Amino acid sequence: MLLKPFARLAFIAALTEISYCSAIFADISNPQLEAAYGALQQWYNSSNGLWVPSTGWWNSANCLTVIAGVATVDDRLEQQIAGVISKTYSKAPKWNAEMTKVVGVKDEPYLMQTYYGDQWPYLPPQYLKQHGKPLRQNFTGFLNSDEGWWALGWIAAYDLTNNQEYLSQAQAIFKDMYSVFGKTNCSKNDDGIGGIWWDKNHTYVNAIANELFFSTAASLANRVPPSYWTPPYLGIAKQQLAWFQGSGMIGANFTINDGLDQQTCRNNGGTIWTYNQGVILGGLVELSKATGDTSYIDTAHKIAEAAIATLAPSGILKDPCEPTGTCGADGSQFKGILVRNMLILHKVNPKDVYRDFFRRNAKSIWENDRNEWNQLSISWAGPLDPAYPANASTQSSAMDCLVAAVAVA
Ligand SMILES: *[C@@H]1O[C@H](CO)[C@@H](O)[C@H](O)[C@H]1NC(C)=O
Ligand SMILES: *[C@@H]1O[C@H](CO)[C@@H](O)[C@H](O)[C@H]1NC(C)=O
Ligand SMILES: *[C@@H]1O[C@H](CO)[C@@H](O)[C@H](O)[C@H]1NC(C)=O
Ligand SMILES: *[C@@H]1O[C@H](CO)[C@@H](O)[C@H](O)[C@H]1NC(C)=O
Ligand SMILES: *[C@@H]1O[C@H](CO)[C@@H](O)[C@H](O)[C@H]1NC(C)=O
Ligand SMILES: *[C@@H]1O[C@H](CO)[C@@H](O)[C@H](O)[C@H]1NC(C)=O
Repeated sequence: MLLKPFARLAFIAALTEISYCSAIFADISNPQLEAAYGALQQWYNSSNGLWVPSTGWWNSANCLTVIAGVATVDDRLEQQIAGVISKTYSKAPKWNAEMTKVVGVKDEPYLMQTYYGDQWPYLPPQYLKQHGKPLRQNFTGFLNSDEGWWALGWIAAYDLTNNQEYLSQAQAIFKDMYSVFGKTNCSKNDDGIGGIWWDKNHTYVNAIANELFFSTAASLANRVPPSYWTPPYLGIAKQQLAWFQGSGMIGANFTINDGLDQQTCRNNGGTIWTYNQGVILGGLVELSKATGDTSYIDTAHKIAEAAIATLAPSGILKDPCEPTGTCGADGSQFKGILVRNMLILHKVNPKDVYRDFFRRNAKSIWENDRNEWNQLSISWAGPLDPAYPANASTQSSAMDCLVAAVAVA
């Protein structure tokens, strides 16, 4: 803790107050967020700068983005978080996991799942028999599948700290994604050429990998001045969005399905996950900033409002794998990604519907989804189910919502 002694006392007093008087808090504010941050950091592994084994590789990139967001609304934690980010930057690239990812698990044909050779979740035996043990990744830095999450994480870190190295890292990651741009089996449609594969093994073209690529391109367009040596970020972002819209992954009512059928290259009607309604919002806001064209914001509102109508019919956000199925180590982090990106949209074009949504969900998390150690579990509506304890995935995801509530308080 970098807090001065007096601040530390106030911090502890605030924590104590929360545990005794939570019922009287009408709204979520900094003390609750700080308590949740403290709980998340119990899962931070300072030997490799990741939140493992509580959660996995891409999820740790997403945790990094979450804490950068915490720092933007909490001055008292800013310095400490900058230190955590710097540690992750230097240590995480040395992690050499055995890992592989598949799409489709029991009862959830469109749920992605990353498996690790050396930590839970392990590959199911029948898969292991067929494909063998996952190989060590031998990453160079942050490059490997799911690198788009790291690109966005380093952009968030750059926004917070102004450290140019983080921005350069995001550019390097983007370059790797760009090297395979427009080369998938489904890369050509009536609206142009674009798209990247979800996996290094080239089995699936889906929404998430392509939204991450789009959002990274649009974000870099706003942060890196055009030059002979850099890819034309703005042009690529526009091209990728046109391709994405032409692919049909956005359905008639503005919900986004999981991906494309690899035989027909059409919308596969796959599960409408929260995070797929989310990452695109941040990208659309960035593209609107880069171009001055507000029609991207209009599109973003349609997607965000459709997401609320479809995935939070009772007012509290829920993924289709909840509550009976298990969302697994990956699906348990999705919801916060939608809320974080909705906040990005709300910041440029506020609407009461989002503000109410953030506050209602954050309040429900705090009242119904939290244990005595301020650990936040998967079901934002509650009740706490001992079969699904909190971990760094569920904690970071719920914290995205607390950050949004604090930001609009
Ligand atoms: C940190 O992660 C490594 C795996 O990379 C693991 O062996 C170690 O036990 C973890 N440490 C803690 C404190 O969980
Ligand atoms: C990737 O493709 C290779 C070669 O086709 C195959 O041997 C391997 O099992 C595949 N890996 C996964 C995770 O599907
Ligand atoms: C990583 O390196 C090890 C040892 O050199 C090798 O056995 C393994 O196949 C490599 N992994 C990949 C994904 O290339
Ligand atoms: C992609 O197309 C190539 C040939 O163009 C084919 O061999 C491969 O099976 C296709 N992959 C998928 C996932 O459909
Ligand atoms: C939008 O369409 C999807 C099917 O593609 C459906 O599951 C969802 O409920 C619809 N949303 C609304 C608000 O009607
Ligand atoms: C994290 O918690 C969720 C919800 O309980 C669970 O589905 C997931 O498997 C857990 N992840 C890990 C790595 O234990």
